[in-house]
Amino acid sequence: MTIIEQLNSHYDEMSKKRLLDLFASDAKRAVNFTASYNGLYFDYSKNNITTETLDLLTKLAQEKQLQANIQAMFGGSKINNTEERAVLHTALRSKASEIYVDGKNVMPEINAVKQQMAEFCHKIHSGAHLGYTGKKITTIINIGIGGSDLGPVLVTQALKPYRVAGMQVHFISSVDGYMLQDTLSDIDPESTLFVIASKTFTTQETMTNANSAREWFLAKTQQPTAIAKHFIALSTNAKAVSEFGIDLANMFAFWDFVGGRYSSWSAIGLSIALYIGWDNFAAFLDGANSMDQHFVETADLSKNLPVILGLIGFWYVDFFDYRSLVISPYNTRLTRFPAYVQQLEMESNGKSVDKQGNPVNYLTCPVIWGDSGINGQHAYYQLLHQGTQIVPMDIIIATSDKFSDKAHNDILWSNAVAQAEAFMCGKTYETAKAELLAQGMNDEKASEIAKHKVFHGNRPSNTIILPEISPYYLGMLIALYEHKTFVQGVLWNINTFDQMGVELGKQLAKAVLKDIQNGTSGEHDVSTMAIIQQYLSASK
Ligand code: F6P
Repeated sequence: MTIIEQLNSHYDEMSKKRLLDLFASDAKRAVNFTASYNGLYFDYSKNNITTETLDLLTKLAQEKQLQANIQAMFGGSKINNTEERAVLHTALRSKASEIYVDGKNVMPEINAVKQQMAEFCHKIHSGAHLGYTGKKITTIINIGIGGSDLGPVLVTQALKPYRVAGMQVHFISSVDGYMLQDTLSDIDPESTLFVIASKTFTTQETMTNANSAREWFLAKTQQPTAIAKHFIALSTNAKAVSEFGIDLANMFAFWDFVGGRYSSWSAIGLSIALYIGWDNFAAFLDGANSMDQHFVETADLSKNLPVILGLIGFWYVDFFDYRSLVISPYNTRLTRFPAYVQQLEMESNGKSVDKQGNPVNYLTCPVIWGDSGINGQHAYYQLLHQGTQIVPMDIIIATSDKFSDKAHNDILWSNAVAQAEAFMCGKTYETAKAELLAQGMNDEKASEIAKHKVFHGNRPSNTIILPEISPYYLGMLIALYEHKTFVQGVLWNINTFDQMGVELGKQLAKAVLKDIQNGTSGEHDVSTMAIIQQYLSASK
């Protein structure tokens, strides 16, 4: 039997087992199915797995040469085969002195840009770099989208308590104009730094916002020479940066071996570093580096955290047919974590051909979604508890929150713990009816209403506990999900590091824009033409 066949027959067995039975038959389950590394605690006991499940899944990972793939990524091989690129976001947080791509050691360049970033942060914070009228820079406006936005948004929101005194940061991603107008209406150009963050420096939304920001700045200040003090670029495209009018001395570079959704560790992280200070940014890199080491060095795959997380997710998608995963951070500071993981996993693994371009005959990335867990409880958790589909959940929480109130944190914790418990245990009809009777309801009514109060339970969840939401542990957490994504890409034999599925919409939008600008509905299908016509008529 192949491993997939073994997994299929094992699934037949497991699909009949309930989580509570798994606990009943293994007194040590809560110990055996938890892992911790460097302070991060991972409880995966509330999953439909046994030791045999993990054995089979790790065998599959070995058959797919997971370890060789990990070595290839960290070693600078061009594992992004369609774009012929190495994948080295890990080098950005590495302490190694040598990592080679095409025979060239990339570490000196990486370290030089880090040095440039650190010096720039120092100049801004110390007042050595002032605005054109001599005011201190206290407002950072990051203009970027996708990977040039989501990471910096997540990290600056999560680490707000660590911010440099007096620093503010704003993000402009959407092109509708509102984000730009709302932000610009509240800021002082003399103390503002515009950070144009774009790997390609061609992204339509970012370049439109950047141009409008520059026009606004010039209209306000009437000082073209002041651009040099107030606009910087984070990019791989020096030519486009220079054409935009930013001096290359004010550009912070990165390279095509850093994917957009993996780029917060690169120059794209400059808004983060400006907000929380260089030392905290360095701690963020160190946390990620610590997870990298764990991922590379833990040869026993059943003890490797990103591998376990990846294997469990794969098991649910491809065997249980659970097609979505809800990310539930129980901490307001991590509210943007679901959106971050959404891009990370869905842009990486939302593919239907394998590395060789052959259609796959299995499901790949699930739909990733979620919000702050405590808010979700009062919104979509109804479906999670009683809906017709099972949605596995990742709960993320921190043990100590020195920036929050203990009494509030106790309540937060009790909710997170209780939700995972309710997810697994559910409530039977008998219990529900007994509760109603105890409340004084008559038997006939209790028999009816109890039907609506049944929770089938047996809903799986992971609980990931951080000691605190600090730069270091946030770095570890993000790297954990990055590597989970990679593990799943290897299992599905897909190229995790391109994103060709975003191209068609961009291409068609250009054609539609031309039509709109020419006042015609152009040549499209009739539905598309009618919609364009609606817009043209309304905006006459
Ligand atoms: O359209 C998707 C995408 O290419 C993402 O992969 C990327 O993170 C985002 O757009 C922004 O790209 P850039 O940094 O080149 O502006």
